[in-house]
Amino acid sequence: MCGIAAYIGKKEGLPIVFANLKKLEYRGYDSAGVAFFNFPDDELGINVIKAVGKLDSLGKAIDGHRSLPATSAIGHTRWATHGVPNESNAHPHIDCHKEISLVHNGIVENYKELKVQLTKLGHRFRSQTDTEIIAHLIEEYGFDQALKKIVGAYALAVINKDEPNKIYFARLGSPLVVGIGRGEYYLASDATALAGLVKRVVYLKDGQKGTISLNGLKMGRVRPRIERLDMDLENAQKEGYPHFMLKEIFEGGEVVRAALRGRLFPKKNLIKLGGLESVEAKLARINRLEIAACGTSYYAGIIGKMLFEDFANLPTEIRLASEYRYYSSPLHKNTSALFISQSGETADTLAALSKANSRKYLTLGIVNAVGSSIARETVAGVYNHAGPEIGVASTKAFLSQLAVLNLISLHWPNSRKNKRLLEELALVPSKIESVLKKSKSIKALARKYARYNNFLYIGRGYNYPAAMEGALKLKEISYIHAEGYAAGEMKHGPIALIDKNFPTVAIVMPGRVYEKVISNLEEIKARGGPILAIAAQGDRNIKTVADDVIYVPKTMESLTPLLSIVPLQLFAYYIGVARGHDVDKPRNLAKSVTVE
Ligand code: AGP
Ligand code: GLU
Repeated sequence: MCGIAAYIGKKEGLPIVFANLKKLEYRGYDSAGVAFFNFPDDELGINVIKAVGKLDSLGKAIDGHRSLPATSAIGHTRWATHGVPNESNAHPHIDCHKEISLVHNGIVENYKELKVQLTKLGHRFRSQTDTEIIAHLIEEYGFDQALKKIVGAYALAVINKDEPNKIYFARLGSPLVVGIGRGEYYLASDATALAGLVKRVVYLKDGQKGTISLNGLKMGRVRPRIERLDMDLENAQKEGYPHFMLKEIFEGGEVVRAALRGRLFPKKNLIKLGGLESVEAKLARINRLEIAACGTSYYAGIIGKMLFEDFANLPTEIRLASEYRYYSSPLHKNTSALFISQSGETADTLAALSKANSRKYLTLGIVNAVGSSIARETVAGVYNHAGPEIGVASTKAFLSQLAVLNLISLHWPNSRKNKRLLEELALVPSKIESVLKKSKSIKALARKYARYNNFLYIGRGYNYPAAMEGALKLKEISYIHAEGYAAGEMKHGPIALIDKNFPTVAIVMPGRVYEKVISNLEEIKARGGPILAIAAQGDRNIKTVADDVIYVPKTMESLTPLLSIVPLQLFAYYIGVARGHDVDKPRNLAKSVTVE
């Protein structure tokens, strides 16, 4: 999600901005930069210094530089969305004459058309990013008019040579906080960077803009809502949540919104995936798809298989990447291979990808980390834009992966996409957020079930992989043995496990196999097994068979995993906490398994 830091006050801004970028490192980034005022050639000018990689590289590049006291300074840690992570794409970006410099969090969805317009007006660009457009828009039209031309999301900090002690800011869709000190002012992507520096902050709302300068904070006719900031650094990074995992579960609705932003247009029955534009013609010739991934991404891939077969009528094979790399199916022509990976660095998935590339398959990626190995080695792909996932157990990334899989399968040539499906997909973020509102009751259920040492998780169809993912969450976070199983398989063995000490978590959503799951639960109930069901709002029948029920909103059958997994993420989290485990860093696990 990258980070913004800015300062205006009587001190030198450069060291303060750099120090505040360090506090935002946890947000994840691939490059960084600062812009400040000094006398580069005996006249006041903006100095921009950028570096790829960690902030230490930027620190070395800055070393020895000074900024003028009482002049503004801005800084940025970049999480690339448009343009690979390199020095020229790093922020801050400048206008044609280096009289304006800015840093940006977010996405300019209409940057291509704006770039064409500005080029015709004589502007010349130095980077591949969408952000750079904004500097030229301000140069051409001024700050306020420029903002009106942007479609997308932004948090902005802008300095200009004519007003060296003023910083312009604006917020739409990406967070930005104003810090109010004694005669000095800060901007930051979140309060983490301001903890210990100021006691008063303004959490900007969408559409708010203004300036900070030695004359104070100005926001036009808006009266800024000033709040107290009492937090330590670690707490600030979790934005008040006790763990990153819980914070990321609660980001579930927002990350699906981010995955769909600028890509899903239900009214036009249209999906736009910029990352696949270069291969659109080739997709039409593909008559077979292979999907390979690991862990949570693998379970997303199983759901992806069903989506491609249901909506793109595309024969699809899903393989564990650790198997794919050693045991491949016979070589097929016109095959595409899709690799799903949050980190983009998982060794098994990378090895499977290189095998597919050696077979000359059309390799595609669904990756969260921009510029990561898997992103670079696939021919094309779609980024999650979920922001960094800090908790080792993948939660928000899984939801984002499902959202992107829905987009790609419905975007596929000759897919069965229709307005109703796209409208339903667009409603998923708010439905996820309605489930998150039940966290208190889910926490109570977690306490009730925390004593058991074995669980069975069952589901059918789209919710069979969701059941396996739910079981994986519980295993990872609470160290309890939990097995995800196809509900239809109960009588082929697992039912022998069932007794009063062996609960079953069952996903029972409306669809082709609803009654079948109910009869599976009757079999479990008959043997005294406790049952916790995830069911659709309005389901009166489920209470007759389940001991406890967590209701989620209704949706299309293919979208139900996006809702049914949310209570299972919370359930696993609260049981892990109840058992006193380090839920952000569970034992024996790594966030990115970069070794075999
Ligand atoms: C998920 O909670 C686990 N941390 C793990 O299974 C993970 O999904 C797997 O290692 C794949 O990681 P990737 O998505 O970064 O490739
Ligand atoms: N979209 C911009 C870029 O790719 C900003 C990304 C960010 O939020 O760091 O440079």
